Amino acid sequence: MNQDLYDEPSEGSETLLHNVVYCSRITTGLAEADVQAIIATARRWNPAHGVTGLLVYGGDIFFQWLEGPKKSVEQLMHNIRKDKRHNTLVELSVNEEVRERMFPTWDMELVQPDDIREVLQDALRDAKAAVNTKALRELMQRVEEAELP
Ligand SMILES: Cc1cc2nc3c(=O)[nH]c(=O)nc-3n(C[C@H](O)[C@H](O)[C@H](O)COP(=O)(O)O)c2cc1C
Repeated sequence: MNQDLYDEPSEGSETLLHNVVYCSRITTGLAEADVQAIIATARRWNPAHGVTGLLVYGGDIFFQWLEGPKKSVEQLMHNIRKDKRHNTLVELSVNEEVRERMFPTWDMELVQPDDIREVLQDALRDAKAAVNTKALRELMQRVEEAELP
């Protein structure tokens, strides 16, 4: 991720971050290649707009964590909401806080459901600020509630 492109402080420092977490259902008939195409788009667009996060895909469910400048995340969510590759989108949380990025080096990482708990545990171990610890604990709870396959 090229931090020079961002109009915000360098990696590791606290900044005002807009964060959206949602889950949705993949459109019937889509395949792994379609998910890879989404990731390819994300890896082009996200670094140029300061957006980082992760996408969990398993069974027929997507679960995505997005963080970055409000303008970028809202623009992206506008596109994502009308994307025909998924449906039944449910926003789990939207907030804006001054904190460090949770996943500073991930333009958009595709995470298997089996690995999500480990990913969150690692992030929790690395989290320095209390707000990050709190946000991660909330996310873990949501993952448990979402009953990912
Ligand atoms: C589950 C899901 C996650 C997505 N995540 C991203 C993302 O992180 N970044 C991105 O640029 N596009 C992502 N997309 C694609 C956008 O919905 C959209 O196709 C993209 O912003 C291009 O917009 P446009 O097709 O209106 O030009 C995602 C799509 C889906 C279905």
